[in-house]
Amino acid sequence: MTAKLVYEGKEYDLPVIEGSEQERAIDIRNLRRDTGLITYDPGYGNSGSCESSITFIDGEKGILRYRGYPIEEVAEHARFTEVCYMLIYGERPELAELQRFRQLMTMHTLIHEDMKKFYEGYPPGAHPMAIMAAMVASLSSFYPDHDDELDLNIVRILAKSKTLAAFAYKKSVGQPFIYPRNDLSWPANFMRMMFAVPADEYDVPKVYEDAMNLLLILHADHEQNCSTSTMRMVGSSGANLFASISAAICALWGPLHGGANQAVIEMLQQISDQGGDYRDFLDKVKRGDAGVRLMGFGHRVYKNFDPRAKLLKTAADRIFDQLGINDPLLELAKKIEEAALSEEYFVQRKLYPNVDFYSGIIYRAMGIPTEMFTVMFALGRLPGWIAHWMEQQRDKTSRIHRPRQVYTGSQKRVFEDRGTKKL
Ligand code: CMC
Repeated sequence: MTAKLVYEGKEYDLPVIEGSEQERAIDIRNLRRDTGLITYDPGYGNSGSCESSITFIDGEKGILRYRGYPIEEVAEHARFTEVCYMLIYGERPELAELQRFRQLMTMHTLIHEDMKKFYEGYPPGAHPMAIMAAMVASLSSFYPDHDDELDLNIVRILAKSKTLAAFAYKKSVGQPFIYPRNDLSWPANFMRMMFAVPADEYDVPKVYEDAMNLLLILHADHEQNCSTSTMRMVGSSGANLFASISAAICALWGPLHGGANQAVIEMLQQISDQGGDYRDFLDKVKRGDAGVRLMGFGHRVYKNFDPRAKLLKTAADRIFDQLGINDPLLELAKKIEEAALSEEYFVQRKLYPNVDFYSGIIYRAMGIPTEMFTVMFALGRLPGWIAHWMEQQRDKTSRIHRPRQVYTGSQKRVFEDRGTKKL
């Protein structure tokens, strides 16, 4: 299969490659060499940056699969640790392998005592994403970047990240750190480190444990999104695993990406505080008033529905029922979703609720503060980032990521000597 390019009267055959789900791409690797041209695709909406066998998304049909398994089935039958293993190592673990992996994930939850001192230097209002990015990069100064330590470093980051995150929260509320307990599951261990205090144990309600497990799984990978592409970008220079993850955390922080879950709750709260007139808010969005967007809506890839949002909406109803609580923000979110889905503005642009629309409402019900929401996203996305980093390290065709540009600045001009160097 080839595609033809006609340029300045000359024909060029460009190979077309096909993926295992019949997705096709024009291979332009030799385009510049053969024609002198580059392609122009700001935001990379039409550019495949790699071949990958980790996650498949069909945005038109609302399909998401990890390693070939539909997200709905994975979410129903797996725990997060199994999903971590499967994403990173390619296949579901045998039972003995899974038990060993889970054991390792609990044995490595402690952080070096010296790292606790780092927390002391942050002001009380420091955003936990800033702390997370710094702490994860700092792990590289404690654990060497040797090939034979890679599997161990993977376990270390997966295990320690929740301790780092819980400590960041404890720092923000001025409470003593709670150390991990190795008999607990990943979500229960994390929630206990968040909410227990030394004088008082905290038994994690099963409904919270299950909800957290679901949220982590739904966030675990999403192919070449902004933070994962950052992970690959940084990893392409040969940077170590911890440094690459730290960069991915920073990319995730933005409100158009993982920061949207915090922005959704702030938006809902603001509408509610101003009397709950969501129709007026939607009018502002449609008019594009000062760049107002409906946070938690829209996606680069999903143009029908986001399967993760669908699962979370159902989960939100279930969790609220089980807890017997009634959050006015959940009701407001549902009304906004219904109204937006019948508005031409949203229908025409194929804007649907994404994973961030309902996740924050569930975190809120579990008592997780708004500023920690994006940290929760990061904890869930870790196995995806690691899987992509590993895939890239092993890919013989991978090169340093170095896009081109179309220069639009001044043409050559003379830099006159105005004597400024001597000032
Ligand atoms: N509210 C209002 N209008 C929107 C929205 C929104 N949430 N999202 C897109 N649009 C409009 C946009 O103004 C544009 O309209 P027009 O064609 O008239 O200029 C059109 O839809 C296409 O938008 P775009 O910005 O070109 O789309 P994109 O693919 O570059 O951006 C997005 C995708 C997710 C950044 C965007 O939809 C957005 O900003 N959503 C709100 C933030 C959000 O919820 N982010 C979480 C994404 S899912 C979790 C994750 O993976 O991070």
